[in-house]
Amino acid sequence: MVSSYAIIGASRGIGLEFVVQLASKPTNSVFAVVRNGAISVHLQEAIKKHGFSNVHVIEGDIGDYSSCQRAAKEVAEKTGGGLDCLIHNAMRPSPPVSFTDFLNIPDMTEFDADLTHAFQINGLGTIHSIHAFLPLLRASPTGAKKIAVISTEGGKYDVIRDMKIAAMPSYHLSKSVQVMAALKWSVLLAPECFTLAVLTPGLVDTSGTKGGLDAEGAALAKAVEAMLADIEGMTPEKNGQIISIR
Ligand SMILES: NC(=O)c1ccc[n+]([C@@H]2O[C@H](COP(=O)([O-])OP(=O)(O)OC[C@H]3O[C@@H](n4cnc5c(N)ncnc54)[C@H](OP(=O)(O)O)[C@@H]3O)[C@@H](O)[C@H]2O)c1
Repeated sequence: MVSSYAIIGASRGIGLEFVVQLASKPTNSVFAVVRNGAISVHLQEAIKKHGFSNVHVIEGDIGDYSSCQRAAKEVAEKTGGGLDCLIHNAMRPSPPVSFTDFLNIPDMTEFDADLTHAFQINGLGTIHSIHAFLPLLRASPTGAKKIAVISTEGGKYDVIRDMKIAAMPSYHLSKSVQVMAALKWSVLLAPECFTLAVLTPGLVDTSGTKGGLDAEGAALAKAVEAMLADIEGMTPEKNGQIISIR
């Protein structure tokens, strides 16, 4: 049983839908970790619309380890020190310079900067958030000790090879680093009966929370519902698995 969740990258898109679905169960405590609470308009709107009193907005930036530590400390102060489940969902979207393949990069200097930043947020950020929240997860009140890392099929070697995808290098390279970082954590935490799994949602339309305050599509709700069912079913024998949501 899991009842307290921290969702990293909860301001919009898939992360926000995790917040909405989890907070709909009043016995859950939901910690929505965002970079800037004041400008997370879609999250604020959802909390207001549903009248959620079990959602706590916490600020944290995964690019900065000390910021993750402050977020974890704030969550611990509210829970008494424990947390059942961490959902690491945040990602850095790629700018146009990285949409193309290696041969068509318009500006190598810009590409260098983009790839380095993608590694910092998508790769290193995953290590930061798990590291910072680990003491809380070790003290999981229900003993669940779950970590779900939301990634992409494009972070998998065999998918890129079989589907022959040369485009989107910085997103896919940085997500493959994320998958390996998650795997390293799963190996490290296995003796402590943690369950860490990588979940890949497939293509989901999150355009409803990219701009104005429109309603989200049904496909998003369905994808998150499927991921939550998988998170519910995560037990230590699933540690280190990559679960594709179809
Ligand atoms: N949507 C899809 O089709 C799809 C497909 C496969 C996999 N995924 C995976 O699903 C996850 C969510 O995707 P999405 O489409 O919902 O993305 P999204 O709409 O772009 O949302 C990304 C979230 O990450 C947050 N974020 C960005 N940089 C951050 C940082 N440095 N620290 C903390 N939070 C940060 C953003 O917050 P701000 O408001 O602060 O920017 C936002 O809440 C990602 O891991 C993605 O790789 C999505």
